[in-house]
Amino acid sequence: MIDQQIRAFARSLRRASGYVRLYGFQHPLCTDAVDEAARAATELIGDRPGLLIGIVDDTLFIDGEPSGLISLQFNGFLREVLAAGIETLIMTPPVDPDELGQIARLIAGDIDAAPIGRSLRVNAVDLVRGPHDGSPAARLRRSYSHSLDALRSFGSSVESGSAASLDETASVVKNLLEQSLANPAAALLLTTVKSHHEYTFYHSVNTSILSLGLAGLVGISERDQVVLGIGAMLHDIGKIGVSRAVLQHPGRLDAAQWEEVRRHPQLGAEAILAAAAPGEELAAVVAFEHHARFDGSGYPRLVYHDGTHHHHGPGHPLHFYSRLVAVADTYDAITTRRSYRRAEPPSRALQVLVSEAGTSYDPDFVLAFASMMGIYPPGSFLRLASGEIVMVTRPSDDPTVLPTAVVVRDRAGSEVAAPEPVPYADDDIVEQVAASALGIQPAQVLERLPVDG
Ligand SMILES: [Fe+2]
Repeated sequence: MIDQQIRAFARSLRRASGYVRLYGFQHPLCTDAVDEAARAATELIGDRPGLLIGIVDDTLFIDGEPSGLISLQFNGFLREVLAAGIETLIMTPPVDPDELGQIARLIAGDIDAAPIGRSLRVNAVDLVRGPHDGSPAARLRRSYSHSLDALRSFGSSVESGSAASLDETASVVKNLLEQSLANPAAALLLTTVKSHHEYTFYHSVNTSILSLGLAGLVGISERDQVVLGIGAMLHDIGKIGVSRAVLQHPGRLDAAQWEEVRRHPQLGAEAILAAAAPGEELAAVVAFEHHARFDGSGYPRLVYHDGTHHHHGPGHPLHFYSRLVAVADTYDAITTRRSYRRAEPPSRALQVLVSEAGTSYDPDFVLAFASMMGIYPPGSFLRLASGEIVMVTRPSDDPTVLPTAVVVRDRAGSEVAAPEPVPYADDDIVEQVAASALGIQPAQVLERLPVDG
């Protein structure tokens, strides 16, 4: 699989440039990563005489072919590569580790100019900026990528304490809303994209997409959905104020670390409120309340005053935006792999929500969410009695009808290049299969679906 080789190359080069920044390019960790990247590059080139890698806007091209999903997964790294002035790279085998080390230094900002090498040439050709791929999947992907940009820029202004507005966030949310309305099934499928590297930002975009879908379903006006969507997008922005060591801590947190994590709703709400224009304040409420639970548990511990008494605990009136976003937030968190646990399949995440409906989560929103996702949510893989593996692409409007699914692996076990919808019945389903066990990513299938999505 060429995709796997591209990933291996991008991942090791990203690691190498990270090590240049941290420890300098002569550090063994760095030279090891560079060696690995050079091997991955040579393997990627295979028996071709050379390979042209190019980046145009949001998209990575390999020999002129767009790599949609990888572009999205490595969105942050591609931004760094472009910022270092690298638009194209021609690689000739075997790739020389010393030359690749220079590229890693260039990306890290350790040197300014591209070296002239034998096996690597930077910006030796110009990519033709053709018309953008106008497929719904590509438009959604672009919208997702712009959301990541908006999060990074809002995040860094929060970090540096400089004044920010919510204008960029509002505009990406409007675009996400527009693209999701045009293709709701593809939007749900796109939320299966996760990043271990920038977990919080991808999680935030996913939560926003899922929240917008749910908000539309329960009849919230489009204008109000934008504020709700901003809240969902920025609900975890307060994590900027939590140390990396704590956020990436693999095991149980001690009391002090836990205390630090519990500050993120308030830190986020403060940052959003400082940036909010009139009418956008509710976005801060969403961030403040997203870990407060329906039954009054969770954090922060909320106290309200009804004119006579102070109350907390059961019956605390969380804003309904917060209760809605909490459902989407939880679903995406459970379906994502973390350093301390594996990703759960979609149906398992729904089970968790249902079992805590009425205690942790608002039962009405859980019900609406479950009906939006359907019995097998988009991105679920099913093994059929025929031996085929199908992937659910679109929930069914009718609860008695199974969702639309496409064949991704045929009876012989080979991957299907152009997945097509297939009829199937309840009796045909043998079991659900985890995406990780198959090595297929739902969003990768999305890129290959018929335009209808
Ligand atoms: Fe959170």
